[in-house]
Amino acid sequence: MQRIDQHIREITLKAVEALWGTILPEEQVQIQKTRRDFSGDFTVVVFPLLRYSKQSPEETGKALGRQMVEQSDLIDGYNVIKGFLNLIVAQRYWKGLLEEDLRTPRYGSSPVKEDAERVMIEFSSPNTNKPLHLGHIRNNLLGHSVARILEASGKVVRKVNLVNDRGIHICKSMLAWQLEGKGRDPASAGMKGDHMVGDYYVRFDQIYKEQIESLVQNGVSRKDAEQEAPVLLQAREMLRKWEADDPEVRQLWETMNSWVYEGFEDTYRRLGISFDRTYYESQTYSLGKEIVLKGLKDGVLYRKADGSVWADLEDEGLDHKLLLRSDGTSVYMTQDVGTAHQRYTEWPFDSHIYVVGNEQNYHFQVLSIILKKLGFAWAEKLYHLSYGMVELPEGKMKSREGTVVDADDLMDEMETTARQMSEELGKLSSYREDEREQIYRKVGMGALKYFILKVDPKKNMTFDPRESVDFNGNTGPFIQYTYARIQSVLRKGHRIQRAVGSLDLIEKEIALIRMMFDYPDVITEASRALNPSLVANFLYELAKEFNQFYHDHSILSAESREQVRQRLLLVEVAGRIIESGMALLGIEVPDRM
Ligand code: ARG
Repeated sequence: MQRIDQHIREITLKAVEALWGTILPEEQVQIQKTRRDFSGDFTVVVFPLLRYSKQSPEETGKALGRQMVEQSDLIDGYNVIKGFLNLIVAQRYWKGLLEEDLRTPRYGSSPVKEDAERVMIEFSSPNTNKPLHLGHIRNNLLGHSVARILEASGKVVRKVNLVNDRGIHICKSMLAWQLEGKGRDPASAGMKGDHMVGDYYVRFDQIYKEQIESLVQNGVSRKDAEQEAPVLLQAREMLRKWEADDPEVRQLWETMNSWVYEGFEDTYRRLGISFDRTYYESQTYSLGKEIVLKGLKDGVLYRKADGSVWADLEDEGLDHKLLLRSDGTSVYMTQDVGTAHQRYTEWPFDSHIYVVGNEQNYHFQVLSIILKKLGFAWAEKLYHLSYGMVELPEGKMKSREGTVVDADDLMDEMETTARQMSEELGKLSSYREDEREQIYRKVGMGALKYFILKVDPKKNMTFDPRESVDFNGNTGPFIQYTYARIQSVLRKGHRIQRAVGSLDLIEKEIALIRMMFDYPDVITEASRALNPSLVANFLYELAKEFNQFYHDHSILSAESREQVRQRLLLVEVAGRIIESGMALLGIEVPDRM
């Protein structure tokens, strides 16, 4: 069936031609959804048409409305309010939509076409010296959700991760382990590997500070002490050995990184995210170096007297950017040059999205410019999806190190909170233990994910664990609860056929259908704007509308058998859209809760 907004556009053009003999350019037809306080479904803005009708807005609207009702059997009536022509769409259309389109399982998603756009999306991208924290949670959720939304809008998506697995920070964890680890490993310590390695990184810093203090007490200036503390020199030495492929250092590095990866895997699994390919800095930084050296040879980059290599970005209104240090070692940027090149070679993309916090805006601006200077046409296809900071309300939750909030700890806390809330409400007492645990997990994770994703990615935000599980707010659990309620109705009425009948739909039913009609547009817009919050807020509105309907009208004991059937169909599709939309956010919906 043709979309009604498209149909209205066409008949508006025809009506204008029939009435005033003008063939309008299509963009002059403005169609909006009718505002809630007026009667009608879609509204045509009359003002741009006055120059053709040469009549008042009121008269123009009336003439147009009359003509459109006559021309189309999908328009049942109209009213004009101050130059806005509100059109009433025929019951037949809404019923057809409910019966056919809304009922198709993949309603809202576009199929992937032969020439579909290929989008690579990088997210997560941790360093191997620390476990994932609250910032990574936002990153991971955004990356995963944006990938799903892009897929739903018909694009071919490749999800990639970058692990910054080499450099001085990794050597610091390794060194502290050498000094104090006494052969411990995650199994013997009964710890997650990433947490254990993270703890040694913290330990390094403590040792370093102690050494500085004792040097200062022995008369060394603080500035010198900071440069000469023995552990720091040892860490640097370790990095040199790593770069020189020293087998022992490499062995330790491999071992400790493998502990970290096992820990990350666990966190990713719990978060419900995955990647098509993981890139490692250790495998791409040499390529970055080669590309930089070629750029130097070609005169795109320059070398300073100390041997370091730089890009001059003054023409772009920026400063100079270091790409190779005087000792020839590479920096963060060099690695990104190599990684991007390798990715494009392996999987030529039409665009590449980097999901990275806004503290790296400058880095990605410079990366694009440098790649362009180096002559890569695809440099223009890089896009930094820059998101704001996320914090916890002051004093609400202590992290293990007291500074950043650990991702695993937060997920534990969310499940506990969901359990507490649920026990307070006492709703699940009749369920089996394992069923209850599944529900707590879905609700706890749903609360976390929804609360973070409902916020525009650009904005800073505070994550409030307690508020996020509130069943009555704009929360994941509220939407999950609506879904569970829908499933409960469907279970009770499972013997009854779901079908559209000859009975007219009531206004509240049409309101629901009209909302669901918007779902494909919501996906398209969220995909264009790379903004999952549009999906989240759509789902909230839909769930609210549904609950209102459920509150005001009976479903299983509606007046007639026909109405029960029709309403059950409506309930079924509402449930399906909620489930589908929540999946775009990476959120599971429980059948009961
Ligand atoms: N590992 C880096 C960090 O934790 C983020 C990497 C972002 N991605 C990239 N391609 N540079 O700061």
